[in-house]
Amino acid sequence: MTIQEAIQVRHSVRQYKDTAIEAEKIAQLQALIDECNREAGVHIQLVTNEPNAFSGGLAKYGKFSGVSNYLAMIGKKGSAEAIGYCGEKIVLLAQMLGLNSCWVGLTFRKQPDKYEIREGEVLNSVIALGYGATQGVQHPQKKSFDDVAKIATTDGVCPEWFRAGVEAALLAPTAVNQQKFLFVLHDNNRVEAKPNYLLIGSYVHTDLGIVKYHFEVAAGKENFEWINCSTD
Ligand SMILES: Cc1cc2nc3c(=O)[nH]c(=O)nc-3n(C[C@H](O)[C@H](O)[C@H](O)COP(=O)(O)O)c2cc1C
Repeated sequence: MTIQEAIQVRHSVRQYKDTAIEAEKIAQLQALIDECNREAGVHIQLVTNEPNAFSGGLAKYGKFSGVSNYLAMIGKKGSAEAIGYCGEKIVLLAQMLGLNSCWVGLTFRKQPDKYEIREGEVLNSVIALGYGATQGVQHPQKKSFDDVAKIATTDGVCPEWFRAGVEAALLAPTAVNQQKFLFVLHDNNRVEAKPNYLLIGSYVHTDLGIVKYHFEVAAGKENFEWINCSTD
């Protein structure tokens, strides 16, 4: 499966089979985690064979079952966008390896003895990983291309790569499927990505990192450069 196909077929999966992830796949995931931690300065950790985070009432409320592997999405305060970007990179690799996933901000129980949180770091969220009971379903599309994209070039033309990037971003996971983001195309192929919201909501910066990764994959990094990166 290509990464473009992974973007199309990935959906959040909350029920998992009792099937262990093979050591070879764990090694591939770990190699990418190590690369992300090194390059983006985050502290993502893979936790395996740990059912407690998803065994309480909150997990049931969130309709989770059978989760015993997850990524602890840890980074310094203010690194939510990097966490989103790196986490989605790992999610799409997992999908290419035949695994399923679900980002989880709320409906799990923290297990502080299962991962390391250094001084100045926070646990942003976790990502459930494993073999899904199903492949999930496409999320309802609350937003259209015109809701989340703006052409601010002098000629007003929308290049194909920009459209492809925005369409891939619309397929990305966002907290409560809020899709509160905006991509603006400026002259000289510069793209601005920002949260599009009136009130500051939780996870908008994590979501922004996630959708920027989808955009980059589909638009092609060689076609544009980012401007005005958001801070949180
Ligand atoms: C940062 C973040 C936090 C999330 N938190 C939860 C959560 O606590 N519980 C849950 O069931 N789903 C959670 N989700 C999954 C979203 O509900 C899901 O991505 C969205 O509805 C879109 O569906 P899709 O992932 O199938 O495309 C979260 C997603 C993101 C990106």
